[in-house]
Amino acid sequence: MKKILFLVIIFTLLTGISEVVNHPGIADAENNQAAKAITGNSKKGKYFYKDMCRHCHMPDSPHKELTPMTKTMDQWKRYFKLKYFLHHNNIVDPQKDNKPLTELVTPEIIIHIKTFLIKHAADSDQPQTCG
Ligand code: HEC
Repeated sequence: MKKILFLVIIFTLLTGISEVVNHPGIADAENNQAAKAITGNSKKGKYFYKDMCRHCHMPDSPHKELTPMTKTMDQWKRYFKLKYFLHHNNIVDPQKDNKPLTELVTPEIIIHIKTFLIKHAADSDQPQTCG
């Protein structure tokens, strides 16, 4: 009887340990998040573009009209890498309580907007004229 009890205890311990060792969740979740952060979400990007960019870049705007088709995919990538911050660094947005653009448009939001603009750029599969 003692022997059986002993075996049951060992068995429970072993299965318990193997469950912990085989748990795959944590590393996978981190990888997924990293992948998402790099690619962004085009639908969210479109929403953010309309909310945060378009009013300053309408056809009658002094800052030039923009749509995803204004640039090619490579030109958008280069623009965000080299010029976006130069152009928008010291700007406040009158339509958003005169808050600085750098505060309103966070790095995460920029990733979504960039994804949207690249996905519908002039030389993309689905060019889009409206923002
Ligand atoms: C408060 C107004 C304002 C908002 C909001 C704004 N911009 Fe601008 N944008 C400017 C100004 C000012 C320039 C500087 C260039 C100029 O006036 O010719 C500029 C320039 C640009 C240019 C370069 C145009 C060209 O071909 O020379 C691009 C591209 C651009 N903005 C994209 C964006 C994106 C993307 C967003 C949203 C995240 C955005 N802008 C939000 C004011 C704004």
